[in-house]
Amino acid sequence: MAGEDTMVVDAGRRELLPPGPPLPSTVQALAWALRPLEVMDRCYARYGNIFTLRVRRGRPWVFLTQPEHVKEVFTTDSELLRAGAGEANPLLGPLLGPRSVMLLDEPQHLSDRRRLLPSFHAQRMKAYGAMMGAVAEEQIERWPLGEPFALWPRMQAISLEVVMHSVFDGIHSMLERAHAVDGEWASEEKMRDELVTMLSDGPTATSLAWVFERLLRHPEKLERLRAELLAEEGEEYLDAVVKETLRLCPAVPIIMRRLTEPMHLGAYTLPAETIVAPCIYLLHRRADIYPDPLSFRPERFLEESAGTYSWIPFGGGVRRCVAVSFAQLEMREVMNTVLRELDLRPAAASSEGAARSSVSFAPDGGAIVLASRRMREALA
Ligand code: HEM
Repeated sequence: MAGEDTMVVDAGRRELLPPGPPLPSTVQALAWALRPLEVMDRCYARYGNIFTLRVRRGRPWVFLTQPEHVKEVFTTDSELLRAGAGEANPLLGPLLGPRSVMLLDEPQHLSDRRRLLPSFHAQRMKAYGAMMGAVAEEQIERWPLGEPFALWPRMQAISLEVVMHSVFDGIHSMLERAHAVDGEWASEEKMRDELVTMLSDGPTATSLAWVFERLLRHPEKLERLRAELLAEEGEEYLDAVVKETLRLCPAVPIIMRRLTEPMHLGAYTLPAETIVAPCIYLLHRRADIYPDPLSFRPERFLEESAGTYSWIPFGGGVRRCVAVSFAQLEMREVMNTVLRELDLRPAAASSEGAARSSVSFAPDGGAIVLASRRMREALA
């Protein structure tokens, strides 16, 4: 890859950073704000596997696109890495509240994470699955038939309803555990911040919008999926479709951590305060890992299972999304219900691109479709 071996000395710090655009940070910030995906594509093409951008206050952001580097970050001691989510999205602090688990550092982060985890325990998934299917069924009743509409806001309504059903229950038991563990009630502000973290569930709705946007452009894959669902012989292909969508259209394109000390990574020594950014978007598009990477081909996940450090839509390490199973279950349940109830087709002639919303990247037309009800007899 061009420029991979070129090292640039950051004269101010006398540390070694990977190469990156030689533009003033204000220009880089502007390009990033307007076209982040294009900036990543271009830097990857120009500088290769690891590169540096200076986007916010000139602080270096080092983008990682190789599984080996990503593994190093995800397995590094959390003392060395601080939460970086607020850096990528300055809205996150005001949006989630400063006490949200996503923005906290150790030791508070881990103790809060432990309180959240039981709500997402495998034992609970069966009950959640039934609830998710029921919510989807009820919401689909309200969808317009025979006229174009955007799926994305409909998916937001579903995921909000789902999270309200599950998280209120979870919050209640969290309060009880907080009482039992700490001997005092968790503060109201803390509960508020946790609740907002859960309710601002952009990624599931966005991923659901993407899954239909992609599937409807590939009628033969849609038919394969529907045949599997109607035969009720497992959900292998359904799972592969979910995984391929999360690969090709990751709702969250980068993860960020802030270094508290210098870190050696490959040929480089990244100074303290650098942001290291495992880049989901670029890693998922590597041709050496995913041949013909821009094609939507769920079959690849039937042939080979998703790699821990090469398929990372939910991040990794001690900050990995707590809802990995929950979110994928929700996607499968909603897809299952929609495909059984409705025939969908795309309302726009060409595929939709990705546009940034407040917390994630969604189809720029909102996944516009036309729906008609499936004949019950056709299901028999
Ligand atoms: C397809 C859907 C989803 C995707 C793609 C997604 C993705 C992510 C990513 C990339 C992170 C950051 C991981 C890191 O920094 O390494 C994260 C963290 C988190 N997610 Fe999700 N997420 C999804 C759904 C959800 C849902 C439904 C919930 C809750 C109901 C949730 C709750 C959280 C929480 C609490 C964290 C912070 C974990 C921590 O810092 O320890 N996510 N998610």
